[in-house]
This record gives sequence, C-alpha cells and structure tokens, in this order.
Amino acid sequence: MVFVRAILLSFISLAVASPLQNLVLHEKMNAIPDGFAHNGPAAASTTLNLRINLASNNMAGLEDALFAVSTPDSAQYGQHLTKEEVEAFVAPKPDTVAAVNSFLSANGLTAQTISPAGDWLSVSMPVSKANDLFGAQFSVFTNQANGQQAIRTMEYSIPASLVGHVELVHPTVTFPATFGAPKFTSPGVQAPSTATALVGDAVPASCATTVTPSCLQALYGIPTTRATQSSNKLGVSGFIDQFAQNADLQTFLRAQRPDLVNTTFALQTLDGGSNPQAAKDAGIEANLDIQYTIGVASGVPTTFISVGDDFQDGDLEGFLDIINFLLGEAAPPQVLTTSYGQNENTISRALANQLCNAYMQLGARGTSILFASGDGGVAGSQTTSCKTFLPTFPSGCPFMTSVGATTGIAPEVAASFSSGGFSNFFARPSYQNSVVSSFLTKLGSTNSGKFNVSGRGFPDVSAQGVNVEIVSGGETGTVDGTSCASPIFASVVSLLNDRLIAAGKSPLGFLNPFLYSAAGSAALTDVTSGTNPGCNTNGFSAGAGWDPVTGLGTPNFAKLLTAVGL
Ligand SMILES: *[C@@H]1O[C@H](CO)[C@@H](O)[C@H](O)[C@H]1NC(C)=O
Ligand SMILES: *[C@@H]1O[C@H](CO)[C@@H](O)[C@H](O)[C@H]1NC(C)=O
Repeated sequence: MVFVRAILLSFISLAVASPLQNLVLHEKMNAIPDGFAHNGPAAASTTLNLRINLASNNMAGLEDALFAVSTPDSAQYGQHLTKEEVEAFVAPKPDTVAAVNSFLSANGLTAQTISPAGDWLSVSMPVSKANDLFGAQFSVFTNQANGQQAIRTMEYSIPASLVGHVELVHPTVTFPATFGAPKFTSPGVQAPSTATALVGDAVPASCATTVTPSCLQALYGIPTTRATQSSNKLGVSGFIDQFAQNADLQTFLRAQRPDLVNTTFALQTLDGGSNPQAAKDAGIEANLDIQYTIGVASGVPTTFISVGDDFQDGDLEGFLDIINFLLGEAAPPQVLTTSYGQNENTISRALANQLCNAYMQLGARGTSILFASGDGGVAGSQTTSCKTFLPTFPSGCPFMTSVGATTGIAPEVAASFSSGGFSNFFARPSYQNSVVSSFLTKLGSTNSGKFNVSGRGFPDVSAQGVNVEIVSGGETGTVDGTSCASPIFASVVSLLNDRLIAAGKSPLGFLNPFLYSAAGSAALTDVTSGTNPGCNTNGFSAGAGWDPVTGLGTPNFAKLLTAVGL
C-alpha cells in the first residue's frame, strides 16, 4: 500500500513539473483516505464529468450581508436578501468568465452552468485530457467496505491563467463519502405507545425510556395547536434512496397525534429522485425525519425533498445539488433539516469552503439550515480508529446550525454518541467567540493536541436523540441518533416562524447570531452532564455554558417566543 502510493506520487510530480503546461498545483491529498485502495490508472478514454467552481465577485460582501440580516441588534435584521441580490454577490466577475471560457474553447470543451448564480460549471472530458489539462493522474480507487470504485487523483493543478478565477475542480481529491443512517434499535412488531394526556408541564415518566412527540411537547413546551401560516415551509432532505412513507406516517400519527391524522407532506425531487410508497421502500432515516417534523411542527407545511442518484455534483450524493436547487426557487423553505453528513477529513478544504458558501447563500435568503452533528462522539460521523478527534462536515461550517443529541428527562444529559468538537477547516466565528473561549479555559490541557483550538466549535444546540419511537415498514420501534435531534429542533424553529409570520415579522433565517446572543442562549436549557467519548478518550464533557457535546442546550418554546420578540 505504501509502495503503491509512493509510485503514484512520483508520477504526479513529473506531470506537474512539465514546463509546457505552466500549471500551478491547486489541491493535494497527502495520503489515500482510510478505507480506500488504489487500483492503478483510470482508462484514458473514460469520460469524467467534472465540476468547476468559479471565484465569486464578492463572497465577503455576502458574508457581511448575511450577518447584517441575521444579527438581532442589526438595523437590517430580518431583511433577507432576494434571489437576485444573492446572485449579484456570488456571480463570477466578467474577467473570470472570460478567462475560463478562453481556457475551455482553446481546449475544445463546452461547459454547462449548474448553479443559479453561475458559479458552478459542469464539463465532460476523457481521463487523458483531464490528466493533461490539470496535471493530474486520475486513478481508480476502491472503497474496501462496499467495493465501489471511484476515479480520483491525489492532486491536481490549474493553468496559471486560471489562478484566482477557479476555486476548485471536482471530483478530484475528495473521495466519495460513506453516509450514515441511524439504526432501528428495537425492530420487530410492538404495540405503539399512545399519546399521554399532559397536565401542566409534567413530563410522563415513560419519556425516560421512549421518546414520543408528547414527550417533546412536555419537555420543551412545544405547542400542540396547529400552525396557521401557509407561506411557512419546513424542508426535510432525503438522500441515498431513503424514502418517506405516508402509510407509516399515518400509523405514527394515529398513535401519537390523532389530531393530525391525514396530515401529509409535499414532495419535491431532483437528480432523478422519487419517493416510492411500497412497504419495502420504507427508509428508517426518512421516516424518522418526516415523523418528527410533521408530528412535532403541528400544521407547518412540510416538504420531503428527495435527491435521486443522478447527482450533478460528482459523488457528493446531491449535497451541493439540493442547495443549488433551493437557491433556484423564488421562495425556498424557511427551515431545512438534514440528518446526513460525513467526516470533515473526507472532503477537500476548497470543496468544504464552497459547500459552506452555498449554505451562506441560502441563509442570506432567510433559510435556517440545520444538520445532525454526527453519531460517533469525538470520533466523527461513524466510529473509526483515530488518533486525533474527527470533526464532521458540515457541522464545522459557520453558516449552519449543528444539532447534537441528549437523553433522559430530569435532567437531560448528553447522549454519548453526540458528535462535537472543533473544525480543522473553519475558524471560530465571532458569534461564539466568548462562549467557546470560556469552555477552552475551563478545559485546560484535557485532550490537548487532539483538536484544533482555533476551529469553529460545534454543535450549536441539541435535542432528544435516544429511544425515539418511530414507525417504519409498518413496524413500531425506536431509533437513536443526532438524526432525531435535527428534525426536532427544526420543528421548534418552524413553529416560531409560524408565529413570527403571523405577527407580520420575518422568519428567523440563519439562527446562530440569535442563538448565541444573550437572549437566545437564555431561552435554551443548558445541558450540564454527559460526555462524548471516542478515539480512546472520554471525549469532551457537557458543563455549564456552551460545550462541544450539547452546544448551548435544548429548546424552551415559551422562552424562545419571548426571545424572538413575541
Ligand atoms: C382521514 O382520511 C380518511 C380517508 O379520507 C377518512 O375516512 C378519515 O375520516 C380521515 N380522518 C381524519 C381524522 O380526518
Ligand atoms: C486549525 O484550524 C484553522 C482554522 O481555524 C486552520 O486554518 C488550520 O489549518 C487548522 N489546523 C490544522 C492542523 O488542521
């Protein structure tokens, strides 16, 4: 393995050194990612469908605009940008377009624009041409876990004329991710628990062992009254052929929310996506996500967005495509929840940056973007061997809200699998500077050298994620995971948006500047015990204030209403 790698790298050095091409090294992987084997050069005639990301004319300006509309004490708070305003920041400059067009036409290539702002192009060419143009050595790599092959290169260059105009070429150095879905921990037919009548704020004792919508309503004070605003939308992302079943949803509602029976979801598809309804097609993740949005965000119009397998984003499983799809809409959902992710070290820094910039764009439009933080504790999205902690993507991106998991009711404690930590790609954003500094001071030298002290800390918030009851394929069972927590927190945000819209106010949009404000953090219940072990350590500990296990804490609906000014 080491020998193969050494040969591969020496070939690449020769290609890059070629004086004729005037190439500049752009991205490089130092080692083949764990779990992949190198199987020799890719056939010269194989067609590669490459994506090229062009430099935007003013991404820094968009970031300023995002914070201006998302920071509660700003004069522009709530004045989210239009599609055209966002595109004006993101579009490449004319000289960038000219440089890239001249490169393409000189090489007999035609590109298609695949994003609304024109910052992403798609272009096809044979491996031989891609090797020449980008000083690459495209090779076949096999994922040893599932046998799937991918054509990648350990490094690539770009012509000197494109430096400053091209952010990245993909897929090149980013290897296909392994996406996780939660395990159905108690499969088998069992009687569904039924909704418990609640008295005041009492949380039923059964919630300590089985979490249902009633438990969440009691624990977080989430209202059961129906939302009233039809313009308010909650989007639920679906990937990897995980399908949401209406029949399972109705079985779930009959047991848990009889008042909501017959409520269903709208469907949007992209990349050839679908949502087949045969019992065998039931997806545990998709059912969980749809049952804990519709069953919690009472009456909020909910859309299942099913991303198919014809990705335009090059083995990113549609992760980029879904954002570009929503950016193309006149009225994207005000909340988007996603319970998929990957380890940050499986994605190139340049690609992570551009995906994060896509979240920035959608946030500026007024969408709250929530993701599950991952289920491997400090070891990342799945438990692997590790010497240093593995942050997850996109939780390290500062323009989204990462949701960790808790368990128990009196009090809630951190779920031991709740991923949290510090990004190696994204620096700590100012909104969390003070609470993260306090955490690091209290931490002292614990875990020193195992994480990046200057990185963006995550998760931001948390919600229940253990023994959550769902129905899938006609069977009732429970699931564990931060996959439970993200739709639950997203539902709370959607219900707040319903009240805000009804009061003639703007929806919350990008949440973090609000959540980390004094008013926002005071409206969350701090979770102060539990740890997220991994990598042969005890991980981090939850404690008073923000921590990289449960973030700022879990929602308190009444306090949040006050904090948003209602
Ligand atoms: C749900 O829809 C079915 C079929 O249309 C109908 O028979 C039933 O009464 C409805 N239930 C509720 C609670 O609305
Ligand atoms: C640590 O994080 C910063 C971003 O804050 C990044 O620039 C740096 O490369 C990271 N260090 C390592 C070793 O990954």
